Amino acid sequence: MSAEVTATSASGVQVLRLMRPDKKNALTRPMYKALCDALEAGDADAAIAAHVLTGSGGMFTAGNDINDFLAAGMGAAGGVNEVLRFIRLLPLIKKPVIAAVEGIAIGIGTTLLFHCDLVYATPDATFATPFLDLGLVPEAGSSLLMPRMMGSHRSFEMLVMGDTFSAERAREAGFVNAVVPADQLEKTAMRAAKRLAAKPPEALAIARAMLRGSPAEISARVDEEAIAFERRLKSPEAREAFQAFLEKRPPEFAKPT
Ligand code: COA
Repeated sequence: MSAEVTATSASGVQVLRLMRPDKKNALTRPMYKALCDALEAGDADAAIAAHVLTGSGGMFTAGNDINDFLAAGMGAAGGVNEVLRFIRLLPLIKKPVIAAVEGIAIGIGTTLLFHCDLVYATPDATFATPFLDLGLVPEAGSSLLMPRMMGSHRSFEMLVMGDTFSAERAREAGFVNAVVPADQLEKTAMRAAKRLAAKPPEALAIARAMLRGSPAEISARVDEEAIAFERRLKSPEAREAFQAFLEKRPPEFAKPT
């Protein structure tokens, strides 16, 4: 387990917490590995009925660590394997996942929510997928799941325009179940998780699988996006966007000649 992801279990619920507040809980490769290991272990553990995923320090996550993006784009050993493992796991997680989102949810912090079963957010929560502005393309099945859940126009706003959705807009768009005060967020998620833990497990698993449909289509889209994404990581546009972020300056993209 990475020190920056903690996993604790009680009352049939596994709580996964992102804990890298000095970097806005941006996800590093060890953090993805820790998340995958814990999700797989929880799925295999008969004592666990549901996973709760949350952040810390008043934020969910600023998405993938941009230093890791830059390194992967420059061909660093191992490429983006842990990220791929995580996004491939998302449609295949066997037990319900409940997200509790406070503050920022950027990039994968938003796209992973479309694989969750329930999402609760605080009034200050914001959701954004600035892939395009980083020279990248949608990932984690978002190009399929977002239009399916909230329609193509809202998805275009988010995935292409890079617009930020407020908690209320996210609730209205259908990917947040309820907006709750910060001091009620984890209690609300835990209450729902414990209700799930009290349900007949076999019936729960069958009903959830029916609601989610076949994961094959989602997995195929995840892989298709990942090929394009990995190519884009190496593109001059993406490298300029990453450098600009790290140097705290606006990016300068070359205009096509
Ligand atoms: N990757 C790596 N480091 C990140 C990060 C990320 N995704 N998001 C934030 N950080 C780091 C910053 O570099 C900064 O580090 P420093 O203190 O060593 O300079 C620290 O976290 C605090 O971030 P900062 O930008 O100073 O805070 P802010 O409150 O002004 O802005 C955000 C917060 C989240 C809006 C801004 O950090 C941001 O836009 N992050 C990038 C989000 C993103 O594009 N993610 C990828 C999606 S695909």
